[in-house]
Amino acid sequence: MKKLIRGFRDVFDKDASQLTGLEVVARQIFKTYNYKEIRIPTVELKELFVKSTGDSTDIVQKEMYSFTDIKGRVMSLRPEGTPGTVRAYIENNFSQVAPVQKFYYIGNMFRSERPQAGRYREFEQIGAEFIGSNSPSIDAELIILLKDIVTSFGVKKYLIKINNLGCENCRPKFRKDLVTYFNSIKKTLCDNCKTRISKNPLRVLDCKIDGDKVKKSAPKLALCDCCKKDYNQVKALLKSSNIKFEDDSNLVRGLDYYSGTVFEFQAGSSAQNAIAGGGRYNSLVKNMGGADMPAAGWALGVERVILASEPKPAKKEKLFFVVSADEQYNTKCFEIAQNLRAEGINTDGGLFDKNIKQQMKESNRKNVDFVLILGEEEDKANKISLKDLKTGKQKLVSQKTLVKEVKKLI
Ligand code: HAM
Repeated sequence: MKKLIRGFRDVFDKDASQLTGLEVVARQIFKTYNYKEIRIPTVELKELFVKSTGDSTDIVQKEMYSFTDIKGRVMSLRPEGTPGTVRAYIENNFSQVAPVQKFYYIGNMFRSERPQAGRYREFEQIGAEFIGSNSPSIDAELIILLKDIVTSFGVKKYLIKINNLGCENCRPKFRKDLVTYFNSIKKTLCDNCKTRISKNPLRVLDCKIDGDKVKKSAPKLALCDCCKKDYNQVKALLKSSNIKFEDDSNLVRGLDYYSGTVFEFQAGSSAQNAIAGGGRYNSLVKNMGGADMPAAGWALGVERVILASEPKPAKKEKLFFVVSADEQYNTKCFEIAQNLRAEGINTDGGLFDKNIKQQMKESNRKNVDFVLILGEEEDKANKISLKDLKTGKQKLVSQKTLVKEVKKLI
């Protein structure tokens, strides 16, 4: 049966242009920050995501599209870009050759979540990963880079939330305190959270069912001096760059690899208000079998940024349409269209299996600006008719000087 699968979309024309528009903006800004593009596979071994995104996350537990290939390997469609990027960094031995890497990626991700406005099963992310530095200035740079991209695309109303999740020094005590607390209220928690207590208690704070209920009374993280110093520096750098943010100790993020500074950009009031998120993941490279390499990054949801944006109206470019009045002029019309295109002029047409009336009708449907018509009368005089569809006015133009005349109209 020919039917689109729920949560997946066909994207046409203006909507597709918006996706491309955001990609173009992002690429330009990544260039100014000297980030380099990385293209990672859409499919990876499932194990990669289990080990990095995390065994206890919703993504790995219930949202991955996984399958067994003909060789019996269990693969998954990528639900996010960080694991593949880190795998590529390790596999290509970057830590030996050039440890500091600033990657960006643009690509589709797959998560089998319940579809809603702003939540799809196939969606696009633009992401940045900075591997090889633990400097708070990198955290601040990443946040400002993200802000530059979303605001350049026309997102005006947004909130930046930041938090620090602590490190291997201060996190273990916090984890222990959380486990004790959650065990004391275990009966009141949802089934998912009951298992999260031992696997990743921090995620209980992020639970859609229990999160809000437990946040107020749960123990708070006491940052070690090192984390405090780094976090204060991140905040000072953001302030000195006039970036407004909210310090939110309840911001957890739904992935297992984070430590230190984390952040989220939120827009709108719906449940899908996170337009982007990220943070530090200083242990991930090592945990995945690489060198002990600090790292941080983020990803934005392209569709959500578009929903939150108020884009400037695009400048409409002029479109020409070539019409052949009779079969004997088809080749000449074909050549005229190609000549115009070679000059960078937007040209449609070529529907020479249709009569002149049908071709004119199609040009109207396509919202064309000018039609070029070649028939017996025109060709005898080495001319072509140029009709302005907005005013209805028509004139004859020399075939020789056509490109010049057309360029005057753009
Ligand atoms: P994430 O928060 O899972 O982080 O996803 C980043 C963004 O992707 C979200 O803020 C949201 O805008 C968008 N997104 C997620 N799921 C969907 C969905 N089902 N439909 C539409 N948009 C969605 C990550 O993926 C991390 N890899 C970010 C990161 C990079 N952290 C460090 N480096």
